[in-house]
Amino acid sequence: MKKTKLAVFASGSGSNYQAIAEACQDGRINAEIVLLVCDKPGAKVLERAERFGTECFAFNPKEYASREAYETVLATMLDERGVDFVCLAGYMRIVGKVLLERYEQRIVNIHPSLLPSFKGAHAIQDAVDYGVKIFGVTTHFVDETLDGGRIIDQGAIVYEGDDIEELTNLIHNIEHKLYVKTINKLINKKY
Ligand code: GRF
Repeated sequence: MKKTKLAVFASGSGSNYQAIAEACQDGRINAEIVLLVCDKPGAKVLERAERFGTECFAFNPKEYASREAYETVLATMLDERGVDFVCLAGYMRIVGKVLLERYEQRIVNIHPSLLPSFKGAHAIQDAVDYGVKIFGVTTHFVDETLDGGRIIDQGAIVYEGDDIEELTNLIHNIEHKLYVKTINKLINKKY
């Protein structure tokens, strides 16, 4: 069966990229990552991608006149590689209309909270500050709003400790499994 082609967009460490790459490699996902896009030259995800032999495109958004300008470049790269789905994995940018229109219902994101609670870049800390006891992770289709779009999967844990590092690791472990599950849903059109 033909492998589904994925692009992963990331800005930072890339543990979710790696979880997806490993699942592609060991056959848990019938897919291949054909492109890693990174808007932070020097980010750790690029080292991980090199180890897996994934083609990378690292760019500095400030070198483009607008979001439309760099997204037009990205859309062409995705088209040329026949990308089926774009997986945002710690990509710290709003996706604009160029990509959203071209890849409608084909861009997904993972977020470390039970959406719609705790949108934004500090979801885990915000949930802790609020006194939350049930933490979680959400995968969702991407729309033009921050961490908006229809939910695909969620995973949760009860945590009553006070060690944010431990909690963050627990949440990341859930993320890595949840993204694999979600990509399988996308491949099998079960969403
Ligand atoms: C994850 O917590 C993800 O949910 C959020 O950004 C973080 C990225 O982590 N969107 P990593 O770079 O995949 O390790």
